[in-house]
Amino acid sequence: MTPGFDVPFLLGMMRLSDSPALSDPRILADWIEARLDEGLVWFDHADTYGDRRCEMLFGEALALRPALKPRIRVVTKAGVVLRSRDSSRFGVKHYDTSPAYLGKAIDASLSRLGVERLDHFLVQRPDPLMDVNATAHALDAAIAAGKVGAVGVSNFLPEQWRRLQQAMANPLAVHQLELSLAHPDSLFSGLYDAVLSDGHQPMAWSSLGGGSVFEDVLGTAIERIAKELQISHAGLALAWLRRLPGQPIPVIGTLKESRIRELAREGRVDLDRPTWFALLEEARSQRVT
Ligand SMILES: NC(=O)c1ccc[n+]([C@@H]2O[C@H](COP(=O)([O-])OP(=O)(O)OC[C@H]3O[C@@H](n4cnc5c(N)ncnc54)[C@H](OP(=O)(O)O)[C@@H]3O)[C@@H](O)[C@H]2O)c1
Repeated sequence: MTPGFDVPFLLGMMRLSDSPALSDPRILADWIEARLDEGLVWFDHADTYGDRRCEMLFGEALALRPALKPRIRVVTKAGVVLRSRDSSRFGVKHYDTSPAYLGKAIDASLSRLGVERLDHFLVQRPDPLMDVNATAHALDAAIAAGKVGAVGVSNFLPEQWRRLQQAMANPLAVHQLELSLAHPDSLFSGLYDAVLSDGHQPMAWSSLGGGSVFEDVLGTAIERIAKELQISHAGLALAWLRRLPGQPIPVIGTLKESRIRELAREGRVDLDRPTWFALLEEARSQRVT
């Protein structure tokens, strides 16, 4: 049984290998333990992050402190072959959702992280060459083998995930999509509604737009409104996201403890409709019609 997401956000690990402060496994183990003590138990990985290095660093820290393993919950993703990993004469970045590739990727993530199970495994990108029956069978088999708690998708369109779902025995559980004040498009294209209609738990990646919500016109508006509400800029940007129906779970990227604590404290602030729409207008640089 896969546990639920009783957390204010997932901790994104994409920037881990870029953090000199956390490059020592002992320091990283302390950092992970501190997050667990704060109740932040979900960590979001992908084999592409740092070209596998982020999962590897995380696994090294867990190996030093195995008592942390039963406390952590892991999401990871695969299906993207980086240019540097393509041994063909093209050296081309591409997608691979074949059973052989995904099977190996799941085993490799389990081994790098040093855990017995990936709580959620997501197909990272829709692959135009996907053989849905074969891929669906491989994903169901990973669940049956106990290697994966649940399967989900990331960056798929409704017809893409529905075709995969039709061939699967298990339900697709989560959908990770780009969603923030910097990228609100899925709220107007029908994509976000489709995620909710199909019963997927939405996860919003780059929930602060990779930091871009703090820039330009939007950044100025956030600064002004945050001051009025007496919360931080980042807390306001996260609260905007969490105001949506379906309780999207933000995936945040900072690894700085003070910023994580600030987001945990202030991201749950309730925004009223006028404030939510005022921020939307600034984000889209257009009046609500
Ligand atoms: N499924 C997918 O296709 C996909 C794609 C991309 C990302 N993701 C996931 O989403 C996660 C988050 O992505 P992201 O790193 O772009 O997330 P983000 O939370 O939108 O952006 C993090 C960036 O914002 C900066 N920032 C500036 N002021 C901040 C503040 N007050 N509080 C917090 N952050 C602040 C951070 O700087 P500092 O680091 O200096 O604090 C960092 O550079 C990734 O780690 C990954 O797990 C998934």
